Amino acid sequence: MFTFLTWFFVLTSLTTGLDNGVGKTPQMGWNSWNGYHCGINQELIEQVIKSMVSTGLRDAGYKYVNLDDCWQLYRDPNGTIVPDPTTFPDGIVPLVEMAHSNGLLFGLYSDAGNETCQGRPGSLGYETIDANTYANWGVDYLKYDNCNNDHIRPQERYPIMRDALNATGHPIFYSICEWGRHHPWTWAPDVGNSWRTTSDIEDDWEKMIYNWDHNGPYFVAGPGAWNDPDMLEIGNGGMTFTEYKTHFSLWCIGKSPLIIGCDINNMSSETIEILMNTELISVNQDPLGIQAHKIREVFLKDDPSIIGEQVWFGPLINNQYVLALLNRKQDTTTISVTWQELDLNPNQTYMIRDLWLHQNISISTGAFQASVQKHETIVVQMIPYY
Ligand SMILES: *[C@@H]1O[C@H](CO)[C@@H](O)[C@H](O)[C@H]1NC(C)=O
Ligand SMILES: *[C@@H]1O[C@H](CO)[C@@H](O)[C@H](O)[C@H]1NC(C)=O
Ligand SMILES: *[C@@H]1O[C@H](CO)[C@@H](O)[C@H](O)[C@H]1NC(C)=O
Ligand SMILES: *[C@@H]1O[C@H](CO)[C@@H](O)[C@H](O)[C@H]1NC(C)=O
Ligand SMILES: *[C@@H]1O[C@H](CO)[C@@H](O)[C@H](O)[C@H]1NC(C)=O
Ligand SMILES: *[C@@H]1O[C@H](CO)[C@@H](O)[C@H](O)[C@H]1NC(C)=O
Repeated sequence: MFTFLTWFFVLTSLTTGLDNGVGKTPQMGWNSWNGYHCGINQELIEQVIKSMVSTGLRDAGYKYVNLDDCWQLYRDPNGTIVPDPTTFPDGIVPLVEMAHSNGLLFGLYSDAGNETCQGRPGSLGYETIDANTYANWGVDYLKYDNCNNDHIRPQERYPIMRDALNATGHPIFYSICEWGRHHPWTWAPDVGNSWRTTSDIEDDWEKMIYNWDHNGPYFVAGPGAWNDPDMLEIGNGGMTFTEYKTHFSLWCIGKSPLIIGCDINNMSSETIEILMNTELISVNQDPLGIQAHKIREVFLKDDPSIIGEQVWFGPLINNQYVLALLNRKQDTTTISVTWQELDLNPNQTYMIRDLWLHQNISISTGAFQASVQKHETIVVQMIPYY
């Protein structure tokens, strides 16, 4: 049964999704917004490129260095977008070349409206000229925002840039940032490589969990087309170590983009431990590309409007699975799950590997349970064991 469903979704994924050759696994990289907002400049980005390499983030899979809003200032009389000459005196091309020569990729930001969210020139009506500029500069990624959109439906605005990017002949990852307003999971899988499913994340447990709860349905996502509950806040200081581990756990099992948003020039050892969890990154980058889905949730006894615990589950290659037990309560709890609930053969034995402890913790048949602390997520990989 489950094998059948797995293949159904694999085939579905292969027949839909934007056909531009990129984003076969969720995009990984860094973006300037969460850590710096408009406070970006050439020197900072040069330092980020160096740090992506020296910290090992690049080799862990984080490839994109992406500018968010405020890199651009005005349009030339001929309509060409011009980088802010004060903050980016040498323009964008030297940064793209520096990224490429360091084994990285480079991304820019624009807006499917008349102005960006910070009042810089938007791309509505300038899609072809902007796409050509990005391609000429060697840009590999475009995040495309939704401010000042003149009340034109996103289903009309976003495909124009898709087609303009395609016409350049240069494969450019197309990241739709429509904030989930018009249920993009229903129209975006063949428009962009990923689409934001929610409003902006904040460096806060409640807002992070809100974005996770409102992420798009698992069955629309697959290679080349990903639900995007927004960028990572890990390392920015607003959550505990345990909460940031949960943030990363959920984004990894959700096949969400892993776009770092902190100051990578000065990361704590805890931040590095989280962002460099190679076993969880492998789950995120698993070639099947199937987003984990919710198996069960339990509401608080004294407040049935609040979720206390959840079980998430999804397939990986080689008949393996990832299972996550999330405790959203204020105290430690035991969460258990049976193979029956997971639609697995109850007689099958699995090696249970804890992806935060990096240890095989049990050999289980039929059921598994774990003690989970406040706001913790236990993530295990289930490997068939004979
Ligand atoms: C453009 O679209 C066509 C048709 O979907 C696709 O085969 C091609 O790879 C695309 N090219 C780029 C550069 O995105
Ligand atoms: C427009 O102006 C810019 C800057 O002056 C120049 O680099 C570019 O080649 C021009 N583009 C066209 C299409 O004339
Ligand atoms: C926004 O841009 C569109 C397309 O260029 C244009 O038709 C429209 O008049 C602009 N709206 C405003 C409010 O500037
Ligand atoms: C680096 O981060 C620490 C806190 O983790 C902070 O105290 C320190 O000021 C930061 N240094 C720089 C140069 O930003
Ligand atoms: C599991 O094992 C029991 C006892 O050997 C057997 O009766 C049952 O049919 C098996 N179930 C499955 C799904 O293989
Ligand atoms: C953990 O389990 C896997 C799967 O059974 C096995 O390949 C691996 O060798 C085990 N690791 C250790 C350290 O025992």
